[in-house]
Parts: sequence; C-alpha cells; structure tokens
Amino acid sequence: MGAPGEAGVRGAGCLPRAPLGRQRETWINMVLVIGATGNQGGSVVRALLAAGVGVRALTRRPAGRRAQRLRRLGVEVVGGDLGDPDRLTRALEGAVAVFAVQNYWETGPERELRYARSVLQASRRAEVRHLIYSSGLGVRAHSGLVALEGKFQAEQELRASGIPYTVIRPALFMEDFLGASVPLPTFARYLLSRSPIAVGRLLIGVLAAMGPPSRRVPLCALSDVGQTVSWALDHPAESLNRAFDLVGDAPTVRDLQTSWQDVGLPPAWSFPGISLGLRLLRPDLAALLHDLTTTAEAEWHLPPLQLTRWQDFLQGMAHPAH
Ligand SMILES: NC(=O)c1ccc[n+]([C@@H]2O[C@H](COP(=O)([O-])OP(=O)(O)OC[C@H]3O[C@@H](n4cnc5c(N)ncnc54)[C@H](OP(=O)(O)O)[C@@H]3O)[C@@H](O)[C@H]2O)c1
Repeated sequence: MGAPGEAGVRGAGCLPRAPLGRQRETWINMVLVIGATGNQGGSVVRALLAAGVGVRALTRRPAGRRAQRLRRLGVEVVGGDLGDPDRLTRALEGAVAVFAVQNYWETGPERELRYARSVLQASRRAEVRHLIYSSGLGVRAHSGLVALEGKFQAEQELRASGIPYTVIRPALFMEDFLGASVPLPTFARYLLSRSPIAVGRLLIGVLAAMGPPSRRVPLCALSDVGQTVSWALDHPAESLNRAFDLVGDAPTVRDLQTSWQDVGLPPAWSFPGISLGLRLLRPDLAALLHDLTTTAEAEWHLPPLQLTRWQDFLQGMAHPAH
C-alpha cells in the first residue's frame, strides 16, 4: 500500500503480457479508479473489489472521510488531481487499466475536456492497456448540448489516441431521484438535504412539465456502471474499442409518476413554471433532460448484461434492505 497521498510505484515492467481478460485474477492486478469517492467511481470500486481486482483510488483529498472509507475496504488511495498530468502518470504506475470520469457539473465543458486530455496523456505515458471512459447517453456530433460538448470531443480524442478503450454512456441515474448527483444550487441542495425523495418529486415534476406523459425517460442504476466496467475488463474481445449505452429501463413519464406512487412515495411536485424555472436556473441541465427524453432507442448499443429495471430499483428504494 502506498502512503496516503503518494502514488504507488509498482513498475509496469513486472506485468505479465497476457491479453486482457485471461487469467484475470493473476494479472489484472491493479485498476486506477478516477472519481472513486463519487457516484460512478464508487460503483466501479465496489464491483471490482467484489470481483477480486485490486483497486487504486485517485482523489484530491487522500486524508478525507471518503478516502478513509475506501482504505478500510482495502483500496489503495493516492492523492492527485486531473489538472496535474505528471502526478496522474505517477498514480498510474503499475495499473493495467483505468476507469475515468470527469464531473461536468463541477468543471463545465472546457475544463472537463482538459481533464480528459490529462487522462489520455497519462494513460499513454503509463502504457495503460484498457481505458474505460465514462461519457453520457446522447453524446453525438452537433447535439447542441453544452453538457455533452466536452464528452463528445473527449470520445473523439480517445478513439484517435490508439489507447485500447471502452466508452460507457450512462443514461440518467435512477439514484438521481434520491438526489445522488442532480446539480442543484447550494441553497436548494441544503433545503432538500433532509429529504432526498424530494429531489425525485421535483425531478419527476420537471420531466412531466417538459412534454407529453407518453415520452420515455432512459434510466440507468449506478450499480450497473460498476457491473459494466467489471464485465468490460473481463471481456476485452467484446468490449475493446467499443461504446456502450447504459440504459436499464426507459419508463414513460406517466409510468414514472404512477410507479413512484405505487410504492408509497408521495406524488411528484408539479407547479406552474417548474420547467421554466429550471431553464432559467440551469439551462444546460434543462436542455439535457429534454434531450434524454427524446433520444432514439433504436440507436442504443447496450452491453450484454442484465441491467437494473426501474421497478426493481424502486422496490429497493421504498423498502431498503438493512
Ligand atoms: N447524474 C446523471 O444522471 C448522469 C448520467 C450520465 C452521466 N453523468 C455524468 O457523470 C459525471 C459525474 O459523475 P459522478 O456523479 O460520479 O460525480 P461525483 O459523484 O460528483 O464525483 C466526482 C468525482 O470526481 C473526482 N474529481 C473531481 N475533480 C477532480 C480532479 N480535479 N482531480 C481528481 N479527481 C477529481 C472527485 O474526487 P475527489 O473529490 O475525492 O477528489 C469525485 O470522486 C458528470 O460528468 C455527468 O455529466 C451523470
């Protein structure tokens, strides 16, 4: 284990040169997980640990509470910043694969792309053999969506880089209905922090105000991010140099409203101006939510996994297992 805040220094030269996926337990010995203290990276950490894979977590706060929790799970924690490619390269030493996510809601598109370039540069230097990049559902040329601009460009550069890759494009997280990563202003986050379900009531209200109740909303459970990454590392022949859309379910807006209430949750909030309010407050999020509900299902390329259905997620949410 590296000292807190220090990158591990296991030499890449000691790694056997077998193709990825074979005898995984002996040689996918270390995966660097960027964003391990967050939603997606956290899911990846749990899935890889469950599969017996060594995990190294990158964080800007190696002494923080979340980093400590990761250490207790047996994760090697290293300090680093996506804005510092040299440190990132050191963090990658001895890792065969890397999971990378950037947080658009914190960075905006330009810094998101700069961070993605840091990952590419460091992965090339460290001769990483499988880079899994988390993008977003709906990424395409000329989408007109600010929230997907950096991800689109990063995907292009990843493909051109020559680094063996897999792109995953998660849909709206089911956990967003519990406030997981909805980018709310601080005051709203504070007001809603005591009742995570309030975020779901608000989100369903917004989606309902954005168009007809028959529109479908593609959703993905966070646990499926980790499952897909674990599968991709284990099945290189099927996953390398491909992109997968992560959509476990796509209920209609009407289904969302009724299923939410069917499990005993309070009805969605709906009031005049709810959608306009979001457009004024976060036009990028409003545009993204609108686009998600119109994304063409025929274009999805799903991984060959059983992804979580909305009803199953809801049941777990209404009756959490303790
Ligand atoms: N919400 C959705 O429905 C949805 C759906 C599809 C895609 N997405 C995309 O998901 C992304 C957010 O993912 P998330 O929800 O997993 O984020 P998150 O929970 O907010 O976590 C962000 C992670 O990134 C790390 N990080 C941030 N800046 C860093 C830096 N400069 N250097 C190193 N690490 C850094 C943080 O680590 P430390 O703080 O420990 O350093 C943290 O672990 C966004 O880009 C969004 O567009 C979201």
